[in-house]
Amino acid sequence: MSDLDCILTIKKGLQKMSARTMNRTNTPRVAPSAIKLPSEDKRWRIVAATMRRHGYAQSSLIEILHTVQSSFGYLDKSSLAFVAHSLRVPLSKVYGVATFYSIFRLKPHGKHTCVVCMGTACYIKGSAKLLQTLEQKYAIKLGDTTADNKVSLLEARCLGACGIAPAGIFDGEVLGNLTSETIDVQLKDWLAESESDPESVNIKTTL
Ligand code: FES
Repeated sequence: MSDLDCILTIKKGLQKMSARTMNRTNTPRVAPSAIKLPSEDKRWRIVAATMRRHGYAQSSLIEILHTVQSSFGYLDKSSLAFVAHSLRVPLSKVYGVATFYSIFRLKPHGKHTCVVCMGTACYIKGSAKLLQTLEQKYAIKLGDTTADNKVSLLEARCLGACGIAPAGIFDGEVLGNLTSETIDVQLKDWLAESESDPESVNIKTTL
């Protein structure tokens, strides 16, 4: 199931749940008269505007969390608490949604992201082995970031590029026919970067 399908399925479930809750408690779908933003950061205004657009409905939880993550890069404790308070949803429920679905992350990513596809086609072509090699070679667990905060290692379920399996995404660029050697080239470049050298060299893998 793609991330979009996943979001739509979750949304439908939350809408049903929310409707039931509303019927029981008769809680109005409006915000408290004045919601205090967590800080002066302008990104919170984007989040607040999204909440307003959805009428502070509990069923908009997924969209709101998605907006927070798009704005800040990840969901920290204070943002979860803010969303819970604003939508009048128990913090435990917000935390549960944020931790259950892989589209959300509770920790910031590193400067670079390496996503290895673990969908069926890529798995058959050896992506699991690639991932395992990466974990061992760079002492980094799936979902984690290297100690120097430079590279995060992630997985995905089908990038829609099965014809070039095994595929991955390197800083947003889909690359295929991956081997441990070609991945090595990219990761070594990233890890060798100094703080004053923000540009990275793209992997030269044929699509
Ligand atoms: S299974 Fe990896 S791109 Fe489709």
